[in-house]
Amino acid sequence: MNFSMIRPDDWHLHLRDGAALSAVLAHTAQRFGRAVVMPNLKPPITTVAAAGAYRDRILAARPIGSRFEPLMTLYLTEGMNAEEIGRAKACGFVHGVKYYPAGATTNSDAGVTGLERAYEALEALEAHDLPLLVHGESTDPAVDVFDRESIFIDRVLIPVRERFPLLRIVFEHVTTREAVDFVRSAGPRVAATITPQHLLLNRNALFQGGIRPHYYCLPVLKREQHRTALVEAAISGSPQFFLGTDSAPHARHTKETTCGCAGIYSAHAGIELYAEAFDRAGALSQLEGFASMHGADFYRLPRNTDLITLARESWSPPQSYSFGEHELVPFRAGEMIAWKLLEDTTR
Ligand code: DOR
Ligand code: ZN
Repeated sequence: MNFSMIRPDDWHLHLRDGAALSAVLAHTAQRFGRAVVMPNLKPPITTVAAAGAYRDRILAARPIGSRFEPLMTLYLTEGMNAEEIGRAKACGFVHGVKYYPAGATTNSDAGVTGLERAYEALEALEAHDLPLLVHGESTDPAVDVFDRESIFIDRVLIPVRERFPLLRIVFEHVTTREAVDFVRSAGPRVAATITPQHLLLNRNALFQGGIRPHYYCLPVLKREQHRTALVEAAISGSPQFFLGTDSAPHARHTKETTCGCAGIYSAHAGIELYAEAFDRAGALSQLEGFASMHGADFYRLPRNTDLITLARESWSPPQSYSFGEHELVPFRAGEMIAWKLLEDTTR
């Protein structure tokens, strides 16, 4: 069976830089029209000038003939001033500012220790109507790792909503029923992205027959009841939920080690995995809204106009892709994926 839909966009993506960028970009560009590119490089992208230079490097790394469009973000820092946010709005290529609680995840050391230290920037975001993108996990070491998202809602998101009621917020990669409920109750200025792994797996996957570093990402996979809540939200047709793969490539040796990096690489099957999740839920007809409409509408960008076609046809990703001098282990390496992108529909 074939299924055609408006070309999707990826509203949360890590592309890295240099040889890693060159290794992964084609996977995204083959499937998605645009992607919101995360700024957690080393050093992080904290200025419009740096975002412009990074954007140029991404454009230069595109496959020949590709029209893929990177949507850039800034990395929120303490003391980021209103002028920088004004420049971000004016430049036209920055579409949001990403808040990483300091220490929450990969390259978040330069993030924000207390959000009140970034209030000038939040005020400017609200005034310019530029979205704040949030990694929503408490970094309090006393908080259980599986509760970090729900505690963050109570301690940070609810107060921020009260203080900045007009601020538009994307709660990135939601993983819990509590997050879904919060987004629903917050109304149309708040939206959420959902990853393929959080729709397809629960936390048992991390320990299936032994420890599985390639299923480790942040926020970490949760219980089955949370996965079910995420599937319900994704297939609900609500414009508050949309696609964000959070594809986050790390070299194999940095994941298969004593203290492995967080991140799952899914760009090689970035739409196919969602097709599988929606199909399993009997809701393939809801995929186009989630993948190709709701995100564009929230970010106030035009929807794509061209189509892609997927086939219900199994295929198997390789055990690894080359990743500069290293190897990258993709999601479902050597296993089956139930949906396939038809090559002749790539742009
Ligand atoms: O698993 C993750 N990987 N979560 C994040 O928040 C960051 C990302 C990365 O950059 O590797
Ligand atoms: Zn991410």
